[in-house]
Amino acid sequence: MTDKPWGGRFEGPTDSFVEEFTASVPFDRRLWRYDIAGSLAHARMLGRQGIISPEEADKIVHGLEEVMDEIERGEFKWKTELEDVHMNIEARLVEKTGDAGRKLHTARSRNDQVALDMKLYLKDECAACINLIDGLQEAILEKAARHIDIIMPGYTHLQRAQPVLFSHHLMAYYEMLERDSGRFSDALKRGDFMPLGSGALAGTGYPIDRSFVSLMLRFQGPTHNSMDSVSDRDFNLEYLAACSIFMMHLSRLAEEMVLWSTGEFGFISLPDRYCTGSSIMPQKKNPDVPELVRGKTGRVYGDLIALLTVMKGLPLAYNKDMQEDKEPVFDASDTVRGCLRAMTDIVAGMEPVQEKMAATAGESYSTATDLADWLAKHGVPFRSAHEIVGRLVRKLAQSGRGMDEVTLPELRELYPGADESALEALKVENSVGARKHIGGTAGEAVMGRINSVREMRARTGKPA
Ligand code: ARG
Repeated sequence: MTDKPWGGRFEGPTDSFVEEFTASVPFDRRLWRYDIAGSLAHARMLGRQGIISPEEADKIVHGLEEVMDEIERGEFKWKTELEDVHMNIEARLVEKTGDAGRKLHTARSRNDQVALDMKLYLKDECAACINLIDGLQEAILEKAARHIDIIMPGYTHLQRAQPVLFSHHLMAYYEMLERDSGRFSDALKRGDFMPLGSGALAGTGYPIDRSFVSLMLRFQGPTHNSMDSVSDRDFNLEYLAACSIFMMHLSRLAEEMVLWSTGEFGFISLPDRYCTGSSIMPQKKNPDVPELVRGKTGRVYGDLIALLTVMKGLPLAYNKDMQEDKEPVFDASDTVRGCLRAMTDIVAGMEPVQEKMAATAGESYSTATDLADWLAKHGVPFRSAHEIVGRLVRKLAQSGRGMDEVTLPELRELYPGADESALEALKVENSVGARKHIGGTAGEAVMGRINSVREMRARTGKPA
């Protein structure tokens, strides 16, 4: 004999190893709030439809509220023998309400129940991500606006390429984050359909009202196919994909924090409270936090790949394999939240070292393109201008001189029409300032974007 909720068909008890092996309660108990919210809506619907009596519905509702209190107070006893969050809560409800509680599972299965719980969980989680990303964007905006005058080297191939504003570099991440946020809200929109009522897979013969349940739980509407509803995990996957792409962006920012805080770059200093020392080298201040953010990106990708692999090739409809969706999703949520908190603080607390950035910005002939552009504007075909400036750079490099050491007579040897304005074009400030178009690095373009973003945020109610 067995005392499981599904014990009727069984003669012998479950092996204790199997109990532990199949149990999900150690990790799915964190869904308890959503599980109870779903049960409350389901019970009210059953009562409203006359599937159970109004008194029974009330009893269930009160019983569930008591269970909720017990869990909140930390008094609830979670039992591995009861397998998962659903059966733990239901069993306690039955203890409290007897036969009324035994009716809660009418017209429902754990298969539609778990799909609902995860959807409710992820709806909250996507919204939380959007909010936290917003906070990081705010920190970026603030830094970018405050340091709008700092020029730094921009890189391609990690070789100094052309001077850019530090703010322009930072705002590049603002744009990435804006799209990341969009991916979470897209996922939200597609996942916003309510699966309860799908039963085990085929729906149910009771006269249920799925639209009512959907409304109560604030979904856009009920799902359209019961088999799809209990076997689909693509909302979870979209969330994990959004997390992965977001973490990819965050790890690039983290990498720049690591790189910029090295002695070699020296572009920023990181807040002490976000760094750690070395147990052997007294002089060290290590950027552990951004390094960990960079590293944790790997585990979030792992979470996505784990669930994609679990789902691949599964026949319809529910399969126990799908219980494996939870740990990757929870792991990704915890990781993403932690990393967002860390990076928001780091961005807010980092201090740019203007002199170091400015000094480096003009090195490595970073304004060579500007001289070529000057020549092109004076009628020299761009390819020829490129060639001419290339020869100049070679000559300067051979004698160990920088771009700022070119003289007018030297320029005139290359192009007789050269005048003071050609020398002006070689200045770092002018190089940056010339790129005034939408998306360019000139102060007015970058500040224009910062301002329009701030206006938009004020209008849409985002904290500006
Ligand atoms: N704990 C299960 C899961 O997470 C709930 C659904 C169980 N359904 C079943 N038919 N065994 O997937």
